[in-house]
Amino acid sequence: MYQIAPSLLSADFVNLERDIRMVEQAGAHMLHIDVMDGRFVPNITIGVPVVQAIKRVATTPCDVHLMIVEPEKFIDAFCDAGADILTIHAEATPHVHRALQAIRARGVRAGLALNPHTPLSVLEEVIEDVDLVLIMSVNPGFGGQAFIPNTLDKLRRLRRLLEARGHAERILVEVDGGVKYDNIDAVAAAGAQVLVSGSGIFKADDPAAMIGAMNEKLQGLAAREAAA
Ligand code: DX5
Ligand code: ZN
Repeated sequence: MYQIAPSLLSADFVNLERDIRMVEQAGAHMLHIDVMDGRFVPNITIGVPVVQAIKRVATTPCDVHLMIVEPEKFIDAFCDAGADILTIHAEATPHVHRALQAIRARGVRAGLALNPHTPLSVLEEVIEDVDLVLIMSVNPGFGGQAFIPNTLDKLRRLRRLLEARGHAERILVEVDGGVKYDNIDAVAAAGAQVLVSGSGIFKADDPAAMIGAMNEKLQGLAAREAAA
């Protein structure tokens, strides 16, 4: 099943509860929450207290994307805040294996994110330790950037890797950056099950209708894939 994860970075922060309820009622499957520290990426966004607040009103899983250096220092804090999926960047720590283990030890699903330049090979030695792989389709830091076309080929290669290693059913593949109505089916067909979209949803004239339209497109793709 394909899943839509609206990125709250593009929501109206004054009306965050309203926007969360709106996307959930419209058919979003999880809430993508972008945590940035001004060091790993050139921007500062959401921190622990805001994740706690989101958790109080969320009815779908909180998918927390840490774009911070030394993520291991904050694993407990974000698990306590209510993360259901906690994703760290492979480039952000020399201790990826330890960090993934620490997330799982808290009973939270462990995600590993790869920047556009990071080869899939970094995954090979920790493939048993991840529940989700997040492929960045922009350079992290900001919403509203253009999708990097090479991502489609990277997704196809990732799918082959997961199949070869016997993890295709277990590990979720998520794509983040520049995903919109126009390319969402191509991104899904290339091998992503979780589609993050920020500006593609919140900057639409009718964000709720946009989620409906995206879901319809993905259901059409799933039906064609099942029939093939
Ligand atoms: C970028 C963030 C994304 C961002 C996506 O660094 O990780 O989640 O909000 O926004 P769009 O969909 O607008 O590219
Ligand atoms: Zn993100």
